[in-house]
Amino acid sequence: MDSNVLDDTRQKIINLASERDRNLHVLPIVAGWENAQKAVAAIPSALPEKGFGPVKAIDAILQDVVPGLALGQAGPRYFGFITGGTLPSAQLADFITTIYDQNAAPNRTEESITAVIENRTLEFVLDLLRIPKDKFPARVVTSGATASNVMGMAVARDYAIQQTLKTNANSPYSVSEYGFGGVVVKVYTDRPHSSLLKAAAITGIGRSNVIDLGKPIKREGDDNADSGTFGIDLAELEKYLKEAAESSATSGVRTAAIVVLSFGEVNTGDFTPNVREIRELCDKYNVWLHIDAAFGAYARLVPDVVGNVADGLELADSITSDAHKWFNVPYDCGLFFTRSVEHQRTVFGPSLVGGVPAYLAKDPSTSGVAISSEMRAALALPDPFYLTIENSRRFRALPLYAALLDQGREGYAELIRRNILFARRVAEWMTSPAGKGYYEVLNLREPLVRNASSSSNSPTTPLNIVFFRAAEANPVKAYQGPHGGAALIKAINGTNKMQVTPGPIGGVRLAVSNWSTGLYTEKATDGTEKGDFEIVVETLLKVVEDPPELVA
Ligand SMILES: Cc1ncc(COP(=O)(O)O)c(C=O)c1O
Repeated sequence: MDSNVLDDTRQKIINLASERDRNLHVLPIVAGWENAQKAVAAIPSALPEKGFGPVKAIDAILQDVVPGLALGQAGPRYFGFITGGTLPSAQLADFITTIYDQNAAPNRTEESITAVIENRTLEFVLDLLRIPKDKFPARVVTSGATASNVMGMAVARDYAIQQTLKTNANSPYSVSEYGFGGVVVKVYTDRPHSSLLKAAAITGIGRSNVIDLGKPIKREGDDNADSGTFGIDLAELEKYLKEAAESSATSGVRTAAIVVLSFGEVNTGDFTPNVREIRELCDKYNVWLHIDAAFGAYARLVPDVVGNVADGLELADSITSDAHKWFNVPYDCGLFFTRSVEHQRTVFGPSLVGGVPAYLAKDPSTSGVAISSEMRAALALPDPFYLTIENSRRFRALPLYAALLDQGREGYAELIRRNILFARRVAEWMTSPAGKGYYEVLNLREPLVRNASSSSNSPTTPLNIVFFRAAEANPVKAYQGPHGGAALIKAINGTNKMQVTPGPIGGVRLAVSNWSTGLYTEKATDGTEKGDFEIVVETLLKVVEDPPELVA
């Protein structure tokens, strides 16, 4: 086919990308019922017998599918889940990924340098997080934090059972080779993300073996037990780890333990404290420590604002994080690190018994080319498909590489800081007289850093999430009670000026993680400038003072 036929269509897509970038702050955040319904009706009900051809296929998408998308979801006032957005550099690099369609699974540096870029990208991330790169030699870009948690549980499960069924050091027991060997694996954790339960389900650990020990505890320096600090009671954890260790010596049901900590709990932004003490317990009982830091890892960039909440991440045996959240790169892009290439390969590499499939073997010849030391190091990097789930994979490291080059340490610290301070400004507004007592913030904590982000040293939100509900003084009765959160979310999201999502106990989460939040201003009809903060405040007042009919 003559590729010129597609030039106009290609140009249309480029124009669409530019227009979307220019209008990101005013695009409808979600499709809404009417547009979504129209778009659903336009989907062909059957595969066309004779294809449309590429031009018409793309035109059909532009005309019928695009209006049904959440066009502004990656924009400044989508505060649902923790989504981030896409930095322009990452978006453009993603185009390059698509244009060349590399299979970034093997390391064949002489054919394509994908594995070297992926490795360097992950080294940049460790550097940004102030973690020496040699502490986590096994590292891969995954499809997201859920996949990273699945990988974490797979590797941790192998290690845990290996400790319980000690065979000989030369050929350690491996679940990946032989199955569970009659051992029950228990995961002790603190307010886990639901993806940890999914990981337990997939890896055969079983959801019921994930035990949430998170409860209010006293942190060192806390004056009272109501400081809002949640975490793991060390004595309770030790009791369980000891039980598991002792079970390996008995002939009854043998239990192996894993510990998982939350760095950035999804509803509140809290961190498990006392990581050092928990690490010591894990060392004492030979237990694998996994930290889910999907978005919390980035707190390490701004100790001036959040203090040392994310200290201890470097003590984990494996780490989950996400790049498509706070790094603001396109889906899907997660991160997984472990201390041990060997452990990771035991699960994801070739069978220790069966060996490498013939078609994946490497050709060691060099065609007589003189090899530089950098090239030699590049060639020595492990094949990513032996460290991760997929055997074929998108070159998803490239957008992250671009974003890291674009932002550097300072750019990312500014982005994270701006998002956290935006969330705190909303929380402060809610608790100040300007908020008129309409809202109650549920995740106020004693600040760990004094005078950093606020004019006062009052309790504030720990990270980038405001978890709130209607206060008793809120005059809209529909917003009260167990279903009040749902009514409030409906009213707020119904404005299409901002989007929030639910939390537990009828609460509402407003999570700030987009690179552009707070950067734009809009001229109002009276000539005044309105930024994202003013639009949020206006919306939160409007749904109370002029509630939509559905909830009035
Ligand atoms: C703490 C935590 N872990 C895991 C996940 C799952 O991440 P993903 O949606 O990228 O799979 C999330 C998502 O919000 C999260 O907040």
